[in-house]
Amino acid sequence: MQKKKPTGNHSRLDSQPRLHQRAPEIQEYGTVTHALPLELEEPVRLEMTEQLNQLLADTMTLRDLYKKSHWQVAGPTFYQLHLLFDKHFNEQAELVDAIAERIQLLGGLAIAMAHDVAETTQIERPPKGREEVPVQLSRLLDAHQIIIRQCRELAKRAVALGDDGTNDLAVSDVLRTNELQAWFTSEHLVNMPLVEAAETSVAAD
Ligand SMILES: [Fe+2]
Repeated sequence: MQKKKPTGNHSRLDSQPRLHQRAPEIQEYGTVTHALPLELEEPVRLEMTEQLNQLLADTMTLRDLYKKSHWQVAGPTFYQLHLLFDKHFNEQAELVDAIAERIQLLGGLAIAMAHDVAETTQIERPPKGREEVPVQLSRLLDAHQIIIRQCRELAKRAVALGDDGTNDLAVSDVLRTNELQAWFTSEHLVNMPLVEAAETSVAAD
């Protein structure tokens, strides 16, 4: 009698790792999974995940703009800006994770790779080279402005659609963090004298 051939994965059991595997996607980008116990209908989750992906791409770009600025900053304010830019980078990185995981929990797919982010973001691409501090700060503030505007629109739409979780994330986390960072960043663009007051009055004898 002929020996029965083993079937399925058991036929290939050995200690060798299976390298270089590829297979069709199991979920297409821009779709949401059907059945979730969230009491949010599929069209709502589709619209929210699309808008959240835009916010995600812009937040990832701002995060990276802070790291670029952290590395490339120069001049008398180097040390304080070097530290501030990295603090903001870390806070933006936390927002990236929170936004991406909200997209996933809504049944969608979070944008992830740099080339996809570059195609999607609304933030102007900076040059590879080094720029002066006022230009670095201005680019960061322009990016904050785009994200802040977007957050308010997303928050309103989320309320209208009954997606309270997305509204809370957009306002409590993304908007509040960006408002605060915009303040810290913009104060560095106020033209203040460092040593001598602009209009000195003669002290009385
Ligand atoms: Fe560093």
